[in-house]
Amino acid sequence: MVVALGISGGIAAYKACEIIRGLDRAGVEVQTILSRGGAQFITPLTLQTLSRNSVLSDRITPGEGGAVRHIDLTRRIDVFAVAPATANFLAKFARGIADDFLSTFYISVTAPVVLAPAMNSRMWDHPATRENLAILKGRGARIIEPETGWLAEEEQGVGRLADPDRIVQAILDEAGRSSQLKDLHVVVTAGPTREPLDPVRFLSNRSSGRMGFALASEAARRGARVTLIAGPVDLYTPRGVDRIDVETSSEMRKAVFESKAGADAVIMAAAVSDYIPPRSDRKIKKSSAEIDLRLSRGPDILKELGETRGSELLIGFAAETDNLLDNARAKLTGKNVDFIVANDISVPGIGMEAVDNEVTILDREGNLHPVPRASKEEVAGRILDHVLAGRSR
Ligand code: CTP
Repeated sequence: MVVALGISGGIAAYKACEIIRGLDRAGVEVQTILSRGGAQFITPLTLQTLSRNSVLSDRITPGEGGAVRHIDLTRRIDVFAVAPATANFLAKFARGIADDFLSTFYISVTAPVVLAPAMNSRMWDHPATRENLAILKGRGARIIEPETGWLAEEEQGVGRLADPDRIVQAILDEAGRSSQLKDLHVVVTAGPTREPLDPVRFLSNRSSGRMGFALASEAARRGARVTLIAGPVDLYTPRGVDRIDVETSSEMRKAVFESKAGADAVIMAAAVSDYIPPRSDRKIKKSSAEIDLRLSRGPDILKELGETRGSELLIGFAAETDNLLDNARAKLTGKNVDFIVANDISVPGIGMEAVDNEVTILDREGNLHPVPRASKEEVAGRILDHVLAGRSR
């Protein structure tokens, strides 16, 4: 197992020594990357001695093949960690600024990222830092929150680098997870569908697609081959994910059935329209005070998957405003699936359109597994832990 450990400029840089020791003890090869700021606090010789490896930094001379080496290293590592991560480096990572070795390395990495920030509490609380952290979390980086205590500025507050043991553990967890779903093919649907009435109008719903995208992103990070079938959403394609864009429920159905051959799991996180309006090729002009819309039933993709299932695992969602668990249970058996992720969409701040979620996972044996409120990225991780862990081939 190989970990690249970035060390940026903060008084906590000396604690990187303990992190290297902890990783070394766990049998991990550590390749350190020291920023210019980091080098003000700790010497390359210390890091080299502890890691028994050369130190990468901005000071590479052309003869050393540094540029090639950094790309080569990004392919070899299981985790990229930065501890301490300063506010400046969080900002550079969030915005993709690559003006030194460490930030250039970040933007080249596909491995899971663990960031352990350390800074003054005012910098930690600043909206700029909050925003950068949200962006990084959204991309799936694991943030090891700093602790509260005495800071270097002789004041108390949050901002002290997390305990090195905690950081080591988080790095080991991430490294273990990066191959957890290796060789699995997972199909995920996300977002709403759009059912056109005419060339300008459509029926749709409030789904943002974030939950499905977070699941796809997390599954890819854990080594799965992921096909993401997305309704119309305004989200970037997660790294390492094959995306198929669709608009209507029947297009989604077709894409799901085409992609699921040989898949190990299908996760239906999309909010598929149940009813379809008649479609006019010409724009509907206003003529009378009222018009009638007669909607017909569209395909129930998950139900069809359940009726025609092979060995693949089927995971559905249940978006409910009332009788959450009863309705979710009915969907579990009615659609013949392995798990239903129940989502109470009547609670403000979670579920549809929201950044956070809070769900209960139901299985066929009648067990309930609550996942407490957290960002959709974190909830995605907990869902995959529960439904896919141990399934690798
Ligand atoms: N689903 C589907 N096709 C549909 C409707 C839903 O595949 N036409 C899937 C969803 O992706 C989700 C699960 O079925 O995984 C449950 O979706 P939900 O909207 O909660 O329930 P419905 O089956 O539509 O039932 P109702 O709207 O009556 O609650």
